[in-house]
Amino acid sequence: MMKAKEIFQLPSGVTLKNRLIFAPISTMEDPLDGKMTSDELNFFKLRTGAVGAIVVGSAYVSPDGRGYGNNISITHDRYIDSLSQVASTIQQDNTKAFLQIYHAGANAKSKKWCVSCESQNIVEEKDYQELSTAEIERIIKDYQEAVLRAIKAGFDGVELHMANSYLPNQFMMPSWNVRQDEWGGSRERRLNFAKRIIESSLEVIKQHAKTPFALGIRFSLEDTMLLEDNERDQSFKESLMILKELDNMTLDYVHVTSSDILSKKELEGYSFELLDILKQVLLKTPLIGSGNLLQAESVEKTLEKTELASACRPFIFQPDWAQCILNQEEVVLPNNQLTGEMRQTYQIPRNLWRGILEASDWYLYR
Ligand SMILES: Cc1cc2nc3c(=O)[nH]c(=O)nc-3n(C[C@H](O)[C@H](O)[C@H](O)COP(=O)(O)O)c2cc1C
Repeated sequence: MMKAKEIFQLPSGVTLKNRLIFAPISTMEDPLDGKMTSDELNFFKLRTGAVGAIVVGSAYVSPDGRGYGNNISITHDRYIDSLSQVASTIQQDNTKAFLQIYHAGANAKSKKWCVSCESQNIVEEKDYQELSTAEIERIIKDYQEAVLRAIKAGFDGVELHMANSYLPNQFMMPSWNVRQDEWGGSRERRLNFAKRIIESSLEVIKQHAKTPFALGIRFSLEDTMLLEDNERDQSFKESLMILKELDNMTLDYVHVTSSDILSKKELEGYSFELLDILKQVLLKTPLIGSGNLLQAESVEKTLEKTELASACRPFIFQPDWAQCILNQEEVVLPNNQLTGEMRQTYQIPRNLWRGILEASDWYLYR
């Protein structure tokens, strides 16, 4: 049998009906009220049902943690009803609904909190303010309350965004974090923030979830702020050491970000399969392989080495992507000009459509 078709039970007990995941996509609508628009709900409605789980991207946990991406909010109980609508829209035919949550830290839209203001990544110091321990504790509490709201809204799990220069990543990476207190310096101390939000999320799940509830993380393997190859290699190795530590945290999954999960990585004159490296580091936690998985063949190849496989862009113009993979049918994306009619057919929200028109080759794997 194809691996993609297998049922998979996460450590928390959440059972996925197959091994396919729709990776988080922020559709870039501008919900001024912090709630998902009906266009976005329709976008997910069209794409659910066959896939094992959809990870909804991405809700900010604190009012001052909102990034530039026009996301939904999980900062207050008044959002629970609309979040609950998102969860129930996705939960068709036993597809599980996970919600990605984040804090943008120094990349936030309003207040610019930095982990260390003297970090090489902070270019204009005047607008930034360094996080005090009291502020850090407040943000950890915001994450905990966000997880509780996700449980109340009926989601099946939460994915903590720890990738791509979001706040947990800013704490982890030496290029952002040059603090010398309990939150910085050694790797162990740089990891304190991530560990605390994981532990406090697990605590709230244990206390409040009446049915199995998953906790996963999104994780990037390179510090994208670094430009030199040798610096990037160093940060890749650092990320692996961090992942090794996080492997002990009883997480349901690690969802890596990659532009091509089946690619090779050149390190110190040797060439390694990225997935082989990851499997040497993650001994306990299920891995979601993600990035550039369009056809069934590459999905199956990934699943030989990972527990789960995800796709994001393929779902945009092939809402039945998961069904195509399960049927081993070729996934066909538009190869001619994009028209406004297509936007209707594929129920694509306005701002996402604009982004697609600007970078259509990337969205269409051309
Ligand atoms: C429009 C768009 C929005 C995205 N938003 C998020 C997000 O909110 N959170 C996240 O972790 N990844 C986000 N991603 C990254 C995807 O989850 C995925 O890692 C990336 O597209 C590569 O996978 P793919 O080749 O299957 O598209 C986004 C990608 C796209 C195209």
